Parts: sequence; structure tokens; C-alpha cells
Amino acid sequence: MVFSCMRVTRRDAGRACGTPKRASGLDRAVNDLVVKGRLFLPDGRIERGGFAVKGGRIVELGAHVSGARTADHGERLVVPGAIDPHVHFRDPGHPEKEDFGSGTRAAALGGVTTVLDMPNTVPPTFTREALEDKLARASAKACVDFGIHLGLDEKGDSLALLPEATSMKVYLGATTGNLLVRDMALVRRALEAAAAARRTVVFHAESQACLDAHADLLTDEYPTHATARPDRCEAEAIEALAHAADATGARVHIAHLSTAAGLATLARSFTAEVCPHHLLFDRDRLREGGRFKMNPPLRTPEDMQALWSALADGRIACLASDHAPHTPHEKATERARSCPAGVPGVQTLLPVLLPHRERVGLPRLLDASVAAARIFGLSRKGALAPGMDADFAVYDLDAPRPVRTAEMASRAGWTPFEGLAAVFPTHTYLRGAAVVEEGAFVGENVRGRFVKPE
Ligand code: NCD
Ligand code: ZN
Repeated sequence: MVFSCMRVTRRDAGRACGTPKRASGLDRAVNDLVVKGRLFLPDGRIERGGFAVKGGRIVELGAHVSGARTADHGERLVVPGAIDPHVHFRDPGHPEKEDFGSGTRAAALGGVTTVLDMPNTVPPTFTREALEDKLARASAKACVDFGIHLGLDEKGDSLALLPEATSMKVYLGATTGNLLVRDMALVRRALEAAAAARRTVVFHAESQACLDAHADLLTDEYPTHATARPDRCEAEAIEALAHAADATGARVHIAHLSTAAGLATLARSFTAEVCPHHLLFDRDRLREGGRFKMNPPLRTPEDMQALWSALADGRIACLASDHAPHTPHEKATERARSCPAGVPGVQTLLPVLLPHRERVGLPRLLDASVAAARIFGLSRKGALAPGMDADFAVYDLDAPRPVRTAEMASRAGWTPFEGLAAVFPTHTYLRGAAVVEEGAFVGENVRGRFVKPE
């Protein structure tokens, strides 16, 4: 039984204004849901239109699609759910700081429908046991889809697990979690294994030899966190990688690219991501204390400008939050060296950048929010097109409001973006199910699934 009224939002409401009629071959009203609004289309155009959802997938695009329910978002923007390829949930290890429940709730409230979780958990994601444990935790609690980056242990034993993970993360510089890899022969082996398994390898690109050479610049004054991790450390790591990756055919992705020098050394075949904090804050903010300490550190205004222009022209393909939920107490220390590096950000990834959309153009910004689907081979993610998962978010671009800590769902309980203008989604859907409606979380019964390249 279907209804001809297109303005209704619920099946029951349809009875009041529609005459029940039988579904025919031509009438696609057997679809579960029709979504209308200003759609961000795969070719980059933004146009009024609609799509139909059935069984959690987009089945058809067009002005005349029909279904059991219609959600008409009018002039609001309807975009594919963002993919954040870089989050540090602390599950297992420190679920009181963030678990897959709180972290993915924050993601959904920020329009993110897929997160890729980093391996520097406790224990690190090195073994089958650790991978399966993380998968079980996420499957029980996540309300958006999730992928798992495998870590690289010092013997390279984890490489055998690559086909079971979404991707791999390798740390070329020391940071939270101590997963540092110094042996470039091992990196080369990892790249060969990843090429064979068709998995992308993500690199934290700060050269440890370079960091060691500058370590004596570090004091307990916060600004020295930036001077002791200079831009050339990023460039050197990327150069070393270009050498290690040569002729392996591996897909190399540079995490949180932060400098003009790093950008200049980026090999053509590499992809890179940029974080909102590196685009929006310069290193002077470190004078304010630990809330602006992260790895890589905040940079100069010239670096920020270089990142914006690379995001605009596509040399930086992708956005990422590097969501790192340290506690306010940990970040409040006056001793810079004892402050852990990292800032929360999964809920604000696209929202804090939307007010700056003119700097790169709205279609480019939206494309960067889903580019991780291509980079990590997630073929059902990142586009409003038939066959894709019906993961999408709805934005009213005319309604920016300041970021407020009280609205952040992360257990971190703070945000470095407090007070900045942002556009949060009014709605977020995962495979056709509402997770956020009118800005409120409604996804208690929605469960995310594990994603990896097929
Ligand atoms: C991250 C964390 O806390 O897990 N911190 C950070 O400063 N980015 C680790 C990392 O990715 O460097
Ligand atoms: Zn990180």
C-alpha cells in the first residue's frame, strides 16, 4: 500500500492527504524513503532534486522518485555523510575518555557517517586478538560506520592481518601511544604488503631523526612545542617515504599535512589530509596553553595559507579531524612537556569549515569531506548515487552558530573551536536510518558496521 501525497513525512500522515493506491511496476513507491533538497551530486553540481532509499541504499535519483515516506528538506543542502579517516577513540584502553559510543555520537552530530579509528589504543591494534576486540567493541556501540587502521609492530607481524583491516597507520615520529617505527626497511615491507593486499597506508610524517635533532629546543614553555617540531621534519619524512614507496605501487596517504615545506615535497602519487586546526589556528595560539598543543604542531600564517590553497586546488584531497580526546585536566597543566598532544574535533570537522567555504568553493570543500572513501577504497561511501549506502547529512548554510562545549558529545568535554562560527547538520542518516534529527541525537538504536575495501 502506498500514498500519492509527496509532502508527507510519515506513513500515517500520508493517510490524511493521499489516496492509497497499489504499487505498480512503474511506481517505485515501494522505496522506504524519499529525500529531497539541494543535493551535492557526484559530478560536483549542487542542484534541487531527490533520491530514493531502499534497504539502506540509494536506489534512484530524480525529481519524481517516490517512496513510503518523504523527507523534503526544501532549500537545505543534502550531502553524503562525511568520512573522517583519522579519529583516536580510546576504546579499548581509556573508554572513560572516549569509547565507540560517545565518539560516534559526536561524529553523527557533526555529519560524519564513517570514521576510521587509529591503532594507538591500549593495547595497540597489532594482533588478531586486538583487531577482533576493537571490532566487537565498535560493533556493539558505534552509531556510524567505522573502519580500523592496523598498527605496524616492530617485527612486522601485523602485516599478515592487512586483508582483515581497513588500512594501516605508521608513525614515523613519536607521539601519543609510542607506536614509532624507525626502520625504513620495515616501512618498505609494509608498503609492499599493503600493495599486495590493496590497502592504503597512512603515515604520521614527522621524521624522528629530525625531531631528535631539535629536541633540545623543547622547554616547559608551550611555544617551544612548535619550534622543536619544525616544518623540515615533515618535509624530511615525506621525502624518505617517497624513496621507500618507490616502485612498490602502494597507496601512501599523509596524515594531517601541516606545512608548506611538506606540501612542496608531496609526491604526485601520494594523497594527503588536512585538519581544521591547522587551517584555522596559527602557532601563536600555543601561548594560550595546552589546548593548542597537538602533533604536528600549529604552524605559521604562511603555512596556513599554503594549506588553504592546496585544499582549494585538490593537492590536499581530504579533510580529517585527528580527534584526540585528552581531558581538560590533562590539557590545563602549565608544564608544556607534560601536556599530552592532541585536540578533539570529530564533531566539528566540516561544521567549522563551512563558514569558510568561499576560500575553496563549496563543492571542493564537500568533496574533501568524502574524499577518504576513494583514498581508502570504500566503494559504497561518499556519494549520493545509486548503489551507494544512504549515508547523508542535511545543512542549513544560512544558520551558523557558535561552537559550544555544552553541545559536544565527546567525553573530552572541551573543544579548541569554542566560540567559532559553525554550521552543524540538522539531520544525519546512516544507511537510511536517522541518527540526528533537527540537531538532536536520535540514533540510540542505530548500529554502525565495519567497513573495508571490497
Ligand atoms: C594523537 C593522540 O593523542 O592520539 N595526538 C595528536 O597530537 N595528534 C596522536 C597522533 O596522531 O599524533
Ligand atoms: Zn592522529
